Amino acid sequence: MGTDGSAWIVSRTARAPSNIAVIKYWGKRDEDLILPLNSSISVTLDPNDLSATTTVSTSPDFDADRLWLNDKEVSLSSHRYVSCLKELRDRATDVKDEKTGIVITKEDWKHLKLHIVSKNNFPTAAGLASSAAGFACLVFTVAELMGIKESFPGELSTIARRGSGSACRSLHGGFVKWEMGKRADGKDSIAVPLAEHHEWDDLRIVICVVSSRQKEVSSTSGMQESVQTSPLLHYRAKEVVPKRITEMEEALSKRDFSSFAKLTCADSNQFHATCLDTSPPIFYMNDTSRRIIGLVERWNKSEGSPQAAYTFDAGPNAVIFVPQKSGGALLHRLLYEFPPPEGMNLSSYVVGSTELLEALGIDKLEDIRSLERPIESPKRDEGHGELAYLICTRPGNGASLCE
Ligand code: DP6
Repeated sequence: MGTDGSAWIVSRTARAPSNIAVIKYWGKRDEDLILPLNSSISVTLDPNDLSATTTVSTSPDFDADRLWLNDKEVSLSSHRYVSCLKELRDRATDVKDEKTGIVITKEDWKHLKLHIVSKNNFPTAAGLASSAAGFACLVFTVAELMGIKESFPGELSTIARRGSGSACRSLHGGFVKWEMGKRADGKDSIAVPLAEHHEWDDLRIVICVVSSRQKEVSSTSGMQESVQTSPLLHYRAKEVVPKRITEMEEALSKRDFSSFAKLTCADSNQFHATCLDTSPPIFYMNDTSRRIIGLVERWNKSEGSPQAAYTFDAGPNAVIFVPQKSGGALLHRLLYEFPPPEGMNLSSYVVGSTELLEALGIDKLEDIRSLERPIESPKRDEGHGELAYLICTRPGNGASLCE
């Protein structure tokens, strides 16, 4: 421990991105271990736009494990935090901190307490899967601090999975599959990378953050209700998803945007159909979500092939995928149908990368008013403020150390 008996502190900081599923996880076969009813596939979002950054510190002066999320202290007593931290402590190793020369033994970790400070670079209230980034980041950072080496591929993802199922996919970049696994102990329920983000360098992602939000049913309880009451969910998990996973893997390996787009929209729509099939029914999408579906479907139909694909998680926000070359045309359609609310700056309405705005040649609000009506769009109505803002991003890297 400390060489001269003085107080010391050792810490690590890391960043982990959010991810969005294109083949959805919905329903568990084991609530405690968080084992899913079906495999799922996601894309990791660029951490520069959507990520959690976490610093984990340890010191003999700390007398309890504590967590601060976005500057507010949060209790670590929930089962999910307890099991993640236990799994991590069980795997801690002897480490020597290069900066301070402090040596911490495997035995010491059993008693040393952790202070965990985590912040998102996007608003948590927007409902953008902050728990996936948060748990992935917590597990990755603590593993770095404790010198944990995986004893089998994907071991770390089995720990992140205990925090929140979708978190296991945020450890990797690009396209990621969460293998449902077969074992009762969950050791084969792991995240595996399918394609690096640079293999899909020309894919762009626009997130439409919907402004008026009702209190939503959490993913955890929503999927429990679906497992108990929706026959469609069980049919989907058994009969539909296994085939779709294979088709999606094939589309990804061939870089076939058209098949990717069809599968992505179909899977989002079926996931929301299972929500409607749940008793009582769960409505995550709202009128604005459905208008966005209409916009993409009309555009795809008028061009005769998929130009863009949409997906929605457990909330009304849309995530739209588009090849880079059509990114300006997508933004044109979104800004035409959903102009910014009165008095809002362009830079607060379109956040993240400015690449698509530049492609469209827009640099001020007045430019939006003079956008021509896309041929397939309905006449612009004057309703403003249905979208809070848009985030322009792309696929990105998985969890990584900041130092
Ligand atoms: C609709 O991972 O948030 O986003 O495992 O109970 O924490 P828990 O649920 P969570 O569920 C995510 C559901 C989804 C689809 C997906 O990400 O695959």
